[in-house]
Amino acid sequence: MSPAKKVLSVIGILIIGIQFIRPARNKDGQIAATDISGVVSISDSIKILLHNACYDCHSNNTRYPWYSNIQPAGWLLNRHITDGKDELNFSEFGGYAQRMQLSKLDGIAYNIRENIMPLASYRRMHKNARLSENEKEMLISWTERSIDELNRGK
Ligand code: HEC
Repeated sequence: MSPAKKVLSVIGILIIGIQFIRPARNKDGQIAATDISGVVSISDSIKILLHNACYDCHSNNTRYPWYSNIQPAGWLLNRHITDGKDELNFSEFGGYAQRMQLSKLDGIAYNIRENIMPLASYRRMHKNARLSENEKEMLISWTERSIDELNRGK
């Protein structure tokens, strides 16, 4: 076998090999008692937007896309889920102190307004996570209403 062919077959074997290394799935299949829907009012349309654009990385339930079965794409997604949940977990929002809830809501508005969230790499792969200007406005004004709601002490 020529050296070039040897290198290619080693790469081929590695690519096949890594397919068997799969991260554990982020899926508890329940709506947590601490879900944000128990803390502030969320209309169905806001709920759908959050589920489509944010919940895959910011909740305890990811809807796994096809590419998660192909490594290293699945590892990358897993990394985003771990880091995303560290920063903000909608499933555990009810467990945050109120000050934290308020600052997270502020952060949500900021990240949406500045097109930082959802992550650009995710937007490329997920059509319904690409928020229109109108949808961004809906989400941002929902965060403002939610901040008022929390400040009023419901
Ligand atoms: C593909 C995964 C993914 C999606 C989808 C996603 N995020 Fe994130 N988010 C992350 C990661 C990863 C971080 C951690 C910070 C970083 O690495 O940029 C993060 C951080 C954040 C933060 C904290 C940022 C800070 O510095 O305080 C907020 C707020 C946030 N995301 C809101 C959202 C909202 C709102 C949506 C939906 C509109 C969303 N994210 C969708 C992955 C994601």
